[in-house]
Amino acid sequence: MKYLVCNFKNKLFKDDILKYNKSLVDIETKVKLVLCPPSIYLDMFDKSGYELGVQDISSFMDKTITGEIEATQVKSIGAKYVIVGHSERRIYRHEINIDFINKINNAVENGLNVIYCIGETLNEKENGKTYEVLEKQISEVLNNVEIKNIMIAYEPVWAIGTGKVPEADEIKENIKFINDIIMEKYEEKLDILYGGSVNDTNIGELCTIKGLNGFLVGGASLDPNKVKGMLIEMEK
Ligand code: PGA
Repeated sequence: MKYLVCNFKNKLFKDDILKYNKSLVDIETKVKLVLCPPSIYLDMFDKSGYELGVQDISSFMDKTITGEIEATQVKSIGAKYVIVGHSERRIYRHEINIDFINKINNAVENGLNVIYCIGETLNEKENGKTYEVLEKQISEVLNNVEIKNIMIAYEPVWAIGTGKVPEADEIKENIKFINDIIMEKYEEKLDILYGGSVNDTNIGELCTIKGLNGFLVGGASLDPNKVKGMLIEMEK
């Protein structure tokens, strides 16, 4: 199964969502398309031909907290996926491993599928620390959760929203490293997505990378025509 996970982040307004929704009517694809709009718009999507996900959930359970959305609520509206550990949450929200562990536990307990994001910064890459960073991000979190319904999104921080994409060989090697670590530590084969400046023009080449199970897309996912273009490439 190949995934195209669309992360709208904090973009688009109600009118855009209405238009987006219209352009997805009758969409048919063999790819598992997952839309993660801002949560205030979740209910505007009818989920025909695609699934819904959220960009975040509360790390708390059964606690009354202003502004939080719980995994139980996500489940109750029929959304099935949650993004955890995105670098923007690590950087701007200062989220750390314990947050990711709690969020993943809450998600898994409620039957949600987790997209756990990992990836090195440019500085880490340039200092030859990519494997070390990936290993830490994997083991410090996955050692403390049930490995169930989790996929990994490998997203080099320097590739997110920059238009820069690593060479195919580099992605391939890092994906292999992630796969090997997970197999060695947990005896599991998890689905692995790539994210970072994926669009309808470069996705064709990225599809040739062995070991990838799909993509997590930000900017290009805001345009439904680009989403359709990406789906066509993925179906080739
Ligand atoms: P981008 O974002 O596609 O705009 O680079 C990817 C992401 O943040 O998941």
